[in-house]
Amino acid sequence: MSASDTPTPAASEPPVRPAKSVVRPAKEGEWKAIRGLIALFPNKLVQSPLPKLNHFFVAEVDGQIVGCCALDIYSRRMAEIRSLSVRPEFQGRGIATQLIEACVKYAKRRRIRELITITSSLGLFEKVGFGPFKSERLALFRQLEAPPPPPEAPPPPPCEDDGPRLS
Ligand SMILES: CC(C)(COP(=O)(O)OP(=O)(O)OC[C@H]1O[C@@H](n2cnc3c(N)ncnc32)[C@H](O)[C@@H]1OP(=O)(O)O)[C@@H](O)C(=O)NCCC(=O)NCCS
Repeated sequence: MSASDTPTPAASEPPVRPAKSVVRPAKEGEWKAIRGLIALFPNKLVQSPLPKLNHFFVAEVDGQIVGCCALDIYSRRMAEIRSLSVRPEFQGRGIATQLIEACVKYAKRRRIRELITITSSLGLFEKVGFGPFKSERLALFRQLEAPPPPPEAPPPPPCEDDGPRLS
């Protein structure tokens, strides 16, 4: 067989369709799927207590929940990204990045200024803007941009009665 007869992968194999994942807030009734995802990694993820259901985002591929991540809001200023899990067969396709970005976007909308995460996946979080925090080895930190200042209040109307009082 000559080199030109050698089938190219594109000709011999069906094209690999990259998973088209949709990231959205978790819905009522999705606890079981989320717990199942977190239970896949008992050595990496805290199993209990977990954030509330309405703090989770999920990633869906062809109707199946394949990833999750929570934004645990501690105060008006600070929140933590945690419980990040992607099914092994769907890893390496950017799904965790999408989930983290959904949390960051939501935090910005809520005007949260500081995000933290405690993770062994340092490279993953560094790629989305997190950096080291003091001398912590596993806690990363990301400062979000300050929200725009509120529009300046118009000056109060002049008051005829504003002059000094001379008894
Ligand atoms: C860590 C995890 C969520 C990554 O999911 P994923 O969907 O494969 O991640 P992505 O495809 O979005 O990866 C984005 C980038 O981060 C890198 N990355 C992924 N996992 C990483 C890890 N554990 N350490 C360092 N870098 C990592 C990838 O190589 C990729 O880089 P590239 O863009 O140059 O290819 C997944 O491996 C997982 O569920 N692990 C078990 C649970 C866990 O460890 N969770 C994190 C603790 S908070």
